[in-house]
Amino acid sequence: MTITEELINKINVCTKCSLHKGRTHAVPGEGSYNAEIMFIGEGPGRDEDLQGKPFVGASGKLLTELIKSIGLSRDDVFIANVVKCRPPENRDPLPEEIAACWPYLDQQVRIIKPLLIVTLGKHSMGRFLPGLKISDVHGQPKRAKGIFNERQVYLPLYHPAVALYDPRKKDILFEDFKKIPLILKQIKKSKNDIQ
Ligand code: URA
Ligand code: SF4
Repeated sequence: MTITEELINKINVCTKCSLHKGRTHAVPGEGSYNAEIMFIGEGPGRDEDLQGKPFVGASGKLLTELIKSIGLSRDDVFIANVVKCRPPENRDPLPEEIAACWPYLDQQVRIIKPLLIVTLGKHSMGRFLPGLKISDVHGQPKRAKGIFNERQVYLPLYHPAVALYDPRKKDILFEDFKKIPLILKQIKKSKNDIQ
C-alpha cells in the first residue's frame, strides 16, 4: 500500500471526533499528489458526504468551472477540506473537530508540497492565516509559515458557496482566480514581491 492509500484508508475509518457519527462517507480529498496547487475548503456538505468526494455539489460545480477558467482540470490540482466528515446541518466545524482532523491535512500538505495553497472561505483561511478579514485580503497572495516550509504562499479566496447567492462575489471569485497563473509563475521564479 502506498502512503497516500494508507492515509485515505485511515481517514475512511477514522473515529477521532464526533463528526464520524453522522457521516455516510468520509471525504479524504482527491486530485494529483504532484499538484502545484491545493484548494482547501471547510468541510463536506450533503453531496460530498453521499459520494465521498470533495466539492461535487453546487459549490463544487462552480469550483470546477473556476479551475477550468484558468486552463486546468480537477485532476491537475488537489482538493481537500479542513475537516473530512460532514458537520451536521452544514454547521461550522468546532475547534476540537478541526484539531482532531488537522493531522490528516497536515500529512496531505507534506506529501503534496504544493507551491500554492488556495484557501476557500474564511474558516479555511483562518486556519492558515489567522487574524485576517477575508473581505480585505481575498485575491491577495500572502506568504506565511507553512507546514513543510517557512514561507508558504497562500491565496485566500471567497468560498464558492457564498458566490452562489451573491453574483457580485461570483465575479470577484473569477477575477481572483485569474491571478493564479501569474502567482504560480512568480513563485517559480522565487520572486520576493509576494509579502
Ligand atoms: N464546501 C466545502 O467547503 N467543501 C466541500 O467539499 C464542499 C462544499
Ligand atoms: Fe476523523 Fe476528521 Fe472525520 Fe473527525 S472529521 S472523524 S477527525 S476524519
